[in-house]
Parts: sequence; structure tokens; C-alpha cells
Amino acid sequence: MQQASANRVERLVQQFKELYGVAPELMVRAPGRVNLIGEHTDYNDGYVFPAAIERDILIAASVRPDKQVRLFSLDMGLSATFTLDAIEKASIEEERWSNYPRAMAWALQNKGFSLRGVQAVLQGDIPPGAGLSSSAALLVACGLLLLAAAHQTLDLVELALLAQQAEREFVGVNVGIMDQFISALGQKDHALFIDTRTLHYEAVPLPTSGVFLVIANTNKPRGLVDSAYNQRRAECEEALDCLRRFLPSIRALRDVTLEEFTRWEARLPEVPRKRARHVITENERVLQSVDALKRGDIALFGSLMNASHRSLRDDYEVSCTELDALVEAAWALPGVYGSRMTGAGFGGCTVSLVAEEALERFCKEVPERYQETTGREASILITRAAQGAERIL
Ligand code: GLA
Repeated sequence: MQQASANRVERLVQQFKELYGVAPELMVRAPGRVNLIGEHTDYNDGYVFPAAIERDILIAASVRPDKQVRLFSLDMGLSATFTLDAIEKASIEEERWSNYPRAMAWALQNKGFSLRGVQAVLQGDIPPGAGLSSSAALLVACGLLLLAAAHQTLDLVELALLAQQAEREFVGVNVGIMDQFISALGQKDHALFIDTRTLHYEAVPLPTSGVFLVIANTNKPRGLVDSAYNQRRAECEEALDCLRRFLPSIRALRDVTLEEFTRWEARLPEVPRKRARHVITENERVLQSVDALKRGDIALFGSLMNASHRSLRDDYEVSCTELDALVEAAWALPGVYGSRMTGAGFGGCTVSLVAEEALERFCKEVPERYQETTGREASILITRAAQGAERIL
């Protein structure tokens, strides 16, 4: 229970009792994530390097004798109910958030699990819509909860895969595996180097003193993220098809080396060429970053983060004025090893590696400069890498 504060847990228990008149029998938590490097690579079979953050979703529940799932979100003050006998998408706007719990129940039942009804209260502190994977955390937390309520267990990699399937097929966003994977399998004080093709992963220790992970939120609503995301996926497919003419054995952009790309890139139309260039160079940067971090070379890791941002801005074109403003404000400060946009883009957050002595200045000056450039308020979150999802009661 290390990440969720004792206060939050106590409050949730109290609120559960008030709402349902009994004590909860189960409680689970699942964290959000920040990706350190390896952006838009996961749906190209590539490498990613995320960490779970000290923000999570908590769900308290008790089992019901029937097949009803009754949910109450404390943050939104909204309830939703559905039956496991016939899971459908929410039909009214106020229940739309419950499409994630519905999706997870649907995916588990599809896999053959026999689930039991629950009544539950949810509370989270991951800012929604900020690109910190509150949806993945909700899916993973619901998965753990529904399994525990039915006295079933599932390997966490399998759980992450089911959560991804739920989001793709039930919710309808064609996401990669990164967010669900790190929410389920994150490790305290480590980032996970994940090969999204094989799902082989390695926990790499992050420095626990002297350097901080700082997340800065643009607080810009991310309007068209889903359609732009799907468009980038299609452009990667197009690049793959073009490259296959010269490299017939490739299955994904992950299989193309930088040398091969340099040899053939002139034969690609401009847009797929730029998208492929980002993915291929980003995979290379992830490998170099993991190596740099293992050797304690934070300066090199930071400069790879900066290069990642430039590539996402110029080649992948998923940054925006607000993200660039935050990154440039960070780059301008001494003691900032590296800074880049994180997550899908078009808004959301940046992640920076900041030396301890520069932290105070960062927290003051980055938001100030951001406000001067964009007129918006940024919010800052300093985090250590957190543990992945777990049952805590
Ligand atoms: C979103 C998706 C992930 C990944 C990132 C971009 O967070 O859910 O699978 O593709 O965007 O790296």
C-alpha cells in the first residue's frame, strides 16, 4: 500500500460504508505512467521506457450475490450500473466514463472468466486527459478487482494484454500496449525497458537521489487526440508498405535499421518518410538511453530525451505550441538534463530530468515562462517511479 496514502484509503473505506452500508471486502490500486523515452514506437513493435507514477486509481468493493456491477466515482460524483449478463456501452453521457470498467469486464468474460457482480467506489488522483494514462490505470484496476471478486488470478502481462484489447475493441481507440503494461507491471524506483514485440521487459533502476523526474502539465484539453493518433498509425503502415518493396522481410518499422532507412528513404513520399524516420531513430534512442542509464550517464540520457522531443516535433508532428513552450522553458535552465513531451502528444505533459539543485527554479520559472508564451497555467508534479497495480485489501 506504499503509494496510496493511508488517508486516502481510510477516506475511501469510510465513503464506501456510507454509500453501501457495509465495509469493503476488497481494494485495489493501479498507477498512471510517464514515458521517459520511446514515443509512438509501441504500435510499430518497437521499444518503450516508461515508469509508473505516484498517482493512482483506488477502487474499494464488495461482492454482490447477482451479476450487477454498481460503480460510484467520488471524483465525478457520478454512478453507473451495468449487468455482466449483457455488457453494453453506456447509453447516457453521465455514464460514459464507465465504458472502461465495462470494457474490462467484457474482455475478461470473453477470455472465459466467470465474473461476479460487485458494488464499488472509485477514487483517483491521476489528472484525467493529461496523457498520464488514467484510462489504462482504470482498466487495470478494474481487471484486478473483478478477478479478485471472482477468486481468480491472471498473470499481469496477460492482464495488460486484455486491458489493451478492451480499449481497442470495446472503447474503440487503437492503442499500443505501453500504458496498460506499465500500470500493471511498474516497479518502484525503476523504469521498464519493454520490447513491445516480445513483451520481454527489464526493470532499470532510476537514480533515487540528486535527480528528479518532473512532469509538467500543459493543462491544454486534448481535443482530437484519438483521430490524430489513428492517423499516425495509418501513416506508419503506409511507410511500412513502401519500405517492404525494398526490404521484403520486414514485419514492422521496428525491423528497419537506420542504415537501411538511409539507403531507401528518398523513395518514400514525404509524410511516411518523416514518420518512419521518427520511429526508427526513436527505437535507437531508447536502446542508447537504457545503456546510458545503466552506466549512470544522466547527461547522455538527457540529451537523448531532447533529441526525442525534436523528432516528435519535426518528424512525427505530434507536439504543439504548449508542449514546445514547456520543453523550451526547461531546456533554458541550468541543471535540466533533458526534457521532452511524453505520451501521445497534442497537449498533455512533458517529462524532465532535473538536478536537485535546479528543482526550485524549475518549479517557479518553467510555469512563469509558459504563462508568458501561452497564457495558460502549467501544473508541476514531481514523482518517483511507483509500484504497479496491486490488491491492497
Ligand atoms: C498513447 C498510447 C500508447 C502509445 C503512446 C505514444 O499513450 O496509449 O500505446 O502509443 O500514446 O507513445
